[in-house]
Amino acid sequence: MPSLEITPLPGASFGAIGRLSFSDASVTTFIERHRKDPQPLRDMLNEASGLLVLRGFGKVSAQPSLLVQLSYLFGSEVENYHDTLTSKRFFHEKIPQILVLSNLPPCNHAPPPIPHPPLTDTGELPVRYPHRHGWHTDQSYRRPPPDVSLLCAVECSPTDQGQTLFADTTAAYETLAPTMQRRIQDLQGIHAPSWIGRSQEAVRAGETPKRTLAHQLPQRHPLVRVHPDTGRRALYLCEGNQMDFVDGPIQGLESGIDGEGARLLHELIHHATAPQFTYVHEWTVGDLLVGDNRCLLHAPTWYDTDQHARLMWRTTVMGNAGDRYRGEAKSWISTTGLQPMEGMGDV
Ligand SMILES: [Fe+2]
Repeated sequence: MPSLEITPLPGASFGAIGRLSFSDASVTTFIERHRKDPQPLRDMLNEASGLLVLRGFGKVSAQPSLLVQLSYLFGSEVENYHDTLTSKRFFHEKIPQILVLSNLPPCNHAPPPIPHPPLTDTGELPVRYPHRHGWHTDQSYRRPPPDVSLLCAVECSPTDQGQTLFADTTAAYETLAPTMQRRIQDLQGIHAPSWIGRSQEAVRAGETPKRTLAHQLPQRHPLVRVHPDTGRRALYLCEGNQMDFVDGPIQGLESGIDGEGARLLHELIHHATAPQFTYVHEWTVGDLLVGDNRCLLHAPTWYDTDQHARLMWRTTVMGNAGDRYRGEAKSWISTTGLQPMEGMGDV
């Protein structure tokens, strides 16, 4: 059994929280203990509907290679951002498997804007789409898409800023009306990176889609994915900046920002981000979040970049996307090696 005691995540209908009992070497010990048989940890993630909040991993910030070792406990492959031609400023200078999310140079990543209005009618942080924007699942514009993301807090903004929001899309799917479940069962979403001119915003602004190479093309995924470990069905979709509103967002339905596909997408995201399916994570230095992209949505929130430094490290874990993707070549690998991906993608 994992050397980790977990309990249900307070403030959420899904997820689990745990803390390591610490000695100086405990993260290393934890990794060593589970490296030979990581399955109990993966089972723990599955039983928590895809979200583990692990506290007390501050040692990772002094030894970032530990984050990569931890990532391998949740899948067979960990992305190397150097190999995927991500801009250098967006990944760790010594550990290229770590994506850097920070307002500090050289990353200089800006947080999303404050929602309008800033609070809900009841004075709470807006979470539900479309009051809240930015809901996505990591790198869904790839085939096969990644399985799991790990996020580690190295420097945090104060409480009430810079949160990460999560939504349980398994529960969201299971609570859809049967007629809606049948309607979407065989539909596919068309996912696209935000920087190729196919997003909702780009189409609304009248931009001409950028010419893309083969490894940058939009990718199709089922709106309802079957989790390869649990067999449970979950909604798999993103908001407007990570879907293709030129040919989609949903294959076979009227395309464009006002088409039937867009209306269906908005309805499903509004449903999936209802309070009963969501969780707001307030970060503490040393938090390590393990989130399953196959059955969760997540969204970042604003923080005051003039007043606070924030530094998060992310890894993406691959290798178990499901039967539908088995044997496929990775869509995002350039065969020419000449053209970097633009932008850093979803965060
Ligand atoms: Fe993300």
